[in-house]
Amino acid sequence: MVRKVSVGLLGLGTVGSGVVQIIDQHQDKLMHQVGCEVKVRKILVNDLEKKRDVYLNGTRLTKDVDEVLNDPDIDVIIEVMGGVEKTRDYILRALRNKKHVVTANKDLMALYGSELLQTAVENQCDLFYEASVAGGIPILRSLVEGLASDRITKMMGIVNGTTNYILTKMSQEGREYEEVLKEAQELGYAESDPTSDVEGLDAARKIAILGTLGFSMNIDLDDVEVSGISRVTKEDLEYGDQLGYTMKLIGLASRAGDKVEICVQPTLVPHSHPLASVHNEFNAVYVYGEAVGETMFYGPGAGKLPTATAVVSDLVEVVKNMRLGVNGNSAVMPQFDKKLKSAEEVNAKYFLRIHAKDQSGTFAALTSLFSDQNVSLEKILQLPVKDSKLAEIIMITHKATKKDFENILMQLKDLDVVEDVKSSYRVEGDGIQ
Ligand code: NAP
Ligand code: HSE
Repeated sequence: MVRKVSVGLLGLGTVGSGVVQIIDQHQDKLMHQVGCEVKVRKILVNDLEKKRDVYLNGTRLTKDVDEVLNDPDIDVIIEVMGGVEKTRDYILRALRNKKHVVTANKDLMALYGSELLQTAVENQCDLFYEASVAGGIPILRSLVEGLASDRITKMMGIVNGTTNYILTKMSQEGREYEEVLKEAQELGYAESDPTSDVEGLDAARKIAILGTLGFSMNIDLDDVEVSGISRVTKEDLEYGDQLGYTMKLIGLASRAGDKVEICVQPTLVPHSHPLASVHNEFNAVYVYGEAVGETMFYGPGAGKLPTATAVVSDLVEVVKNMRLGVNGNSAVMPQFDKKLKSAEEVNAKYFLRIHAKDQSGTFAALTSLFSDQNVSLEKILQLPVKDSKLAEIIMITHKATKKDFENILMQLKDLDVVEDVKSSYRVEGDGIQ
């Protein structure tokens, strides 16, 4: 009979202090749900002198990780300190000491998830990581449990709040990337070093985790083709808008037959698509299942209490399993071998913006190139480029293979009539699949 559950917390920053607050303030609800008292016993920090803005109720702070990992009275380790190599070592040690683990760390799970989950199973321990993707949105449990009976074929996620905030402001206020990024940093939405957010790496880690769970195959971070938003201009957003599209940084995981594609890229989605109305720092994951059809999960992707809610919900799951004596059985190991689509097998629509000579023969040259590659055009917009003899030409293709579109991009540069290829983007979400 479990009478009391003791937690060792690694980290007391933004998420850690939220976890302490929720466990303290929701104690009655937690006791009702799990049937016993849940207490944070020890907390690992870097700096013992730092002023904390959370009520600790006598909980011991320590700088010595062994004091937490080797404490026989601690049942569950909650890792909210971040980092990868050292943290991996701590979690492996915790699992080998038969402690269940909850983590919010997508960097770690995207790189070492399968090793950690295997170690958890070998030690009959739970390892949950709901908060690692889309903060407060319970998306991982929805994939693994809520949609367990379905076959998921496509996931499109706005899983990075920083870039969604920047793209929303650029699009709604007609402002340039650099200016909005600076404002986002001043407001605390973007980190002082925003590289991993704006270049798409943060979203890549999250879509690797979503792909692994949604498709039940081991998706590695290296499998994700990544491009970020730092080269997106306000003109791209304006022309996309005129043609009926909104720009989002989308983590895409799709499968056809036994082949999958996993990527992160700035993507145009139709204004009518549910993802187009996800604004500012909010996150959303659109999931298409063969049986259920379209679903979308929306909410805060980060922040102290939203993220801590996901962490504590994982803790509740661990404690329920403890009471039932079924820990270590929840991890669903990947079922399928991974086969990635080649560029010939990826089919999508594309947006292309070029500057070309405003003279007779320009369109003939362009359409001849497209038809040589068997790519058909769905929408074309042409406008004069101010104070020049150039035309701004924006095209949306019908579905084409990635390989054919890449060939067009390469050959466009050699056409005499083309002055500059300004930008090209994937278009997704026209029609259900
Ligand atoms: P944070 O505010 O920087 O807090 C990190 C905490 O860990 C601090 O309390 C720090 O101690 C402690 N710490 C870091 N390295 C340590 C070490 N080597 N030894 C001992 N203590 C150490 O981080 P956070 O924003 O809470 O994020 C924590 C984790 O949650 C990360 O993996 C992050 O990716 C994930 N996450 C965060 C959010 C969010 O909204 N913030 C959302 C989803 C997921 P001191 O306080 O003494 O410096
Ligand atoms: N840096 C992340 C974002 C926060 O902007 O969404 C948590 O993963």
